[in-house]
Amino acid sequence: MSESGKDIEPSIDQSGVDVAPQVVIKDLWKVFGRDPKRVLKKELRSLSKEEIKKKTGCIIGMRNINLQIEKGQFYILMGLSGSGKSTLIRNLIRLVNSTSGSIHINGENLTKMNQEQLLNFRKKTFGMVFQNYGLLPHITVLDNAAYGLKIKGLPKGERYAKAMQTLDTVGLKGWEDYYPGALSGGMQQRVGLARALANDPEILLMDEPFSGLDPLIRRQMQDELVELQDKLKKTIIFVTHDLHEALKLGDQIAILRNGEVVQIGTPEEIVTQPADDYVQEFVRDASPAKVLTAGSIMEPAKVLLYAWEGPKTALTLLRSQKRRACFVVDKSHRLLGVANEEKLEKLIELEDKPKVIPESILRKVPTVTEDTILEDLFSIVSENPYPIPVVDENGKLKGVVTTDLIFEAISPEEDTND
Ligand SMILES: Nc1ncnc2c1ncn2[C@@H]1O[C@H](COP(=O)(O)OP(=O)(O)O)[C@@H](O)[C@H]1O
Ligand SMILES: [Mg+2]
Repeated sequence: MSESGKDIEPSIDQSGVDVAPQVVIKDLWKVFGRDPKRVLKKELRSLSKEEIKKKTGCIIGMRNINLQIEKGQFYILMGLSGSGKSTLIRNLIRLVNSTSGSIHINGENLTKMNQEQLLNFRKKTFGMVFQNYGLLPHITVLDNAAYGLKIKGLPKGERYAKAMQTLDTVGLKGWEDYYPGALSGGMQQRVGLARALANDPEILLMDEPFSGLDPLIRRQMQDELVELQDKLKKTIIFVTHDLHEALKLGDQIAILRNGEVVQIGTPEEIVTQPADDYVQEFVRDASPAKVLTAGSIMEPAKVLLYAWEGPKTALTLLRSQKRRACFVVDKSHRLLGVANEEKLEKLIELEDKPKVIPESILRKVPTVTEDTILEDLFSIVSENPYPIPVVDENGKLKGVVTTDLIFEAISPEEDTND
C-alpha cells in the first residue's frame, strides 16, 4: 500500500493550534462525457458551458473551483439546479471523481488515495445526509441509524447503544422499533441525520436534506440543526438552492453558477454586496434586517463614565456634553448601568459624598450582543429611550445601536455624497 499523500504540511500557529483550513479545494474541474480531459486544453477551457457542450458533447459539472472550509464552519453551497452543487459535494467523498485539481482534507490529499485508503478515510471522516433520506425500508429505525456502524464493523451491543443515543439527539426516542414507512418525511430525515451522526463524523455533508419537506417542518428542522450544531460543532457542508435557508444556517456561503463559484461570503456580504446580477437575483427578496447585525452597525458610545470617577466629575462631564444620562463602565470596560443627572445631583447633595459612583444608583438596561440581527433589535430599540448597549460575552461595552442607525442600515442605498 502506498503512503497516502500527505503533501500539505499542517500549518501550526505560535500557540500550537492547527490553523490550516480543514478542507482545501484547488482548481477542481469535473467534465462529464467522453475523453473529458481534452476539454481542459487551452482552446476549450475558457469557452462557455453551452459552447463546450456543442463542440465536444461534454458537460461541465465543475469549473476551476477553489474553496477553503474551516473546521467547525457551517458552509453552504448554493446555486440554481444544475449549477454543480451535488457534483461538488459528491466529489468530496469521491462518489464522483474529478477531472483535474485537488482536494485536501485535514492535510491529506483525497484525490491521490487508492480505493482502500479512500474507504477508510470516508468511514472515519464523513457523514452524509441525502435529500431523499436514503433509508432502508425493510429494517427498523434503530437498524437504519446503526447501519453505518455495522459497516464499520462495530459489535452489535455497541452500535445499538450508539444509535439509540443519536436517535435521542435528533428527538426520535421511542421510535426505534418502527419501520421508516411509518414515519413522516421530517422524521425520516431525522433518522437520516441520526445515521450520519452515529459515526461521530468530523464532516457532515448534507445535499438538500430538507428540500422534500413541508415549509413548516422544514423551518423546524433548520432550527433544530442550528441548535444541534451549536452543541456538536461539526464541520457542515450543506447544499441548498433556498436563499433563506442559506442565510439562516450558513457561516459562509459559496454561490455556484454553471459549475463555477461566483461569490463566497458571509450571509451579510452576500446580501449587501452581491457580486453580479445572478447573485443579485438570488438575494432580491432577502431582507437586510435578517442578516445585518448589531456589530456591523454599532457606533462607539459617545459619553462614558468610569465608576471610579466621583459624581461631581460625572456631572461636569454630562453637562459639558449636554447629556442627561450616560453609560457607566468599570476598569475593564464592563458595563455597569446607566447613570442619570438627577441621581448624580442627589449624590453630591449628601453630606457624606461618595468618592466613586455607587452601583446602587445605576439603572440596569437591556443589552444586545454583536451578533444580534436587526430584526431582533427593533422591539428592544423601540421600547427604550436610550441607545442600546452592545456587549460581548464578558459584559464589556463594545458600542451602541440607535433607531437612527438601524433605519440608516436598512433603507435602500442612496447617493449620500451630495
Ligand atoms: N452523471 C452525469 N453525467 C452527465 N452530466 C452530469 C452528470 N451529473 C451531473 N451532470 C451535469 O453536471 C451539471 C451539474 O449538476 P449537479 O451537480 O447535479 O447540479 P446541482 O446539484 O447544482 O443541481 C449539470 O449540468 C448536470 O446536468
Ligand atoms: Mg443537486
